[in-house]
Amino acid sequence: MFFLTTAIDYTNGSPHIGHAYEKVLSDVIARYRRLHGDEVYFLSGVDQHGQKVQQTAEKEGVHPATFVKRTTKKFSNLWDKLDVRYDGWAETTDERHKACVRAILTELKDQGQLYKKAHSGFYSVRQEQFLQDRDRDEAGNFGPEWGEVVEIEEENWYFKLSEHTDWLKNFLETTPEVIIPGFRKSELLNALERNSGIDLCISRPKERLRWGIEFPFDEHYVTYVWFDALINYVSFAGYKAAEGSGLPDFSNVWPEGSRPVHVIGKDILIPAHGIYWFCMLHAMGFSDDSMPRLLVHGFWNGLGGDKMSKSLGNIVDPNELAEKFGVEAIRYYLVRDIVTGRDSNFDVERLVMLFNTELANELGNLCNRALNMSQNFTGGTLHTGGGLTDEETALQASLTQSIADYRRAMDEFEVAKGLEAISRHVVHCNGYTERMKPWELKKDPANAPRVQTVLYHLAESLAQCAILLSPVLPQAAAKIAAQLRRDDLLSMKLDDLKWGLLSDGHEIGKPKPVFPRIVLEEA
Ligand code: MSP
Repeated sequence: MFFLTTAIDYTNGSPHIGHAYEKVLSDVIARYRRLHGDEVYFLSGVDQHGQKVQQTAEKEGVHPATFVKRTTKKFSNLWDKLDVRYDGWAETTDERHKACVRAILTELKDQGQLYKKAHSGFYSVRQEQFLQDRDRDEAGNFGPEWGEVVEIEEENWYFKLSEHTDWLKNFLETTPEVIIPGFRKSELLNALERNSGIDLCISRPKERLRWGIEFPFDEHYVTYVWFDALINYVSFAGYKAAEGSGLPDFSNVWPEGSRPVHVIGKDILIPAHGIYWFCMLHAMGFSDDSMPRLLVHGFWNGLGGDKMSKSLGNIVDPNELAEKFGVEAIRYYLVRDIVTGRDSNFDVERLVMLFNTELANELGNLCNRALNMSQNFTGGTLHTGGGLTDEETALQASLTQSIADYRRAMDEFEVAKGLEAISRHVVHCNGYTERMKPWELKKDPANAPRVQTVLYHLAESLAQCAILLSPVLPQAAAKIAAQLRRDDLLSMKLDDLKWGLLSDGHEIGKPKPVFPRIVLEEA
């Protein structure tokens, strides 16, 4: 089983292009793994508790439950629109999740992993956490990233994080590929060094925060939002679920010795996923072999290259974009113009340029030529044709190479590289057409077998490229398969991709444009 999760989005606002990227990237990975032949369980969802939600709901004068219901819809509607197809949907106000969080808290307390103590110190309202001296800037102040900072004293519950950090350090140092890309691992190890000896405060007194999961053994407290949220990865996979809960079987989704992939942004690696979550799982008794892999992606910056923020007014709205350019243009751009793990600047002109060049021109051209010329020159019937020349040998070799490059890249979550590999073959096919000039060849009836060979090579290439593209562009791939009159192509697996998917004598359909060029209106 390939168990894939995304971060669960805060429901105190609306989704932006950064959230959309993470979901589309994960959806592409899920679809690719299926194409690879894996059974996949793809979990996504929303983070509905915490101080920010409570505050925003108060400002709007509604109960937090009503508020999160409304905002959750904004997220789930967008994922439907963007064709993000998850198998499980996590909402942290779900009673089944709450029961799981309580069961874990009770178990950890019984094992002596939790304790209560009084603490006085500085608290960041925005980050919902106590601050340490190491959080001060060079001038000794708490910087603007912490928002409002207040001094408070209170009693709270703590998780003995410090008992697990030596194990974590050793685990990270000795286990390859749990943090992807690898350069993030050194950042994490440095952070771990700074964090050593500190336990994690996992409760909030109800006077300060009501909107959370009540402690099972101390009714005056609710659970710290990160402790609650991280547990979604197991609760919605059926961990400690009651009979008939409707949740999956945990031993099937996350069997002992398997590593799920958590797709997260770079801002929530440290400390939440890279430190807290690993230590929580360790305390819960998960073995080293069952620790998840963290796929840490970079950020999409807003227009102008700055971090997206309300105050800069540069937030890119995925709904607007999808309406303007179409869902598949957005999906394509989001995974095409960023290196997984690195940041990128959102740029509408590049979106249009990449779509028009790689899809409308190159792939669109291949579709049109393969289908149109077959209709016009061979009556819509494909024939494998006459003897092969070096040109056909080279074309078939180009396809084999592209598939190998694509698989290598996609196995490592490098979607942009995977797409480039497909493009290389499409460009090869268009060059081949230009050199072979079937429109000239067909003027002499003696060349009929040659024309058939050329058109067959284009159609077969198109069929295979449609399959490779299907994780990113499911709708376009389905249209191409339908025009080739081979809807079944999209249920094939990667290992089935051998030359000759289209048989001799196969009748193809009529071409209809799959990638109409995007024309930007003059401003
Ligand atoms: N609720 C927490 C995650 C809990 S996971 C147990 C959270 N939510 S969030 O809404 O702020 O962010 C959700 C995801 O979107 C995170 O992985 C975050 O890194 C990602 N992104 C937020 N802004 C982004 C960009 N500008 N670009 C790419 N991803 C971004 O954190």
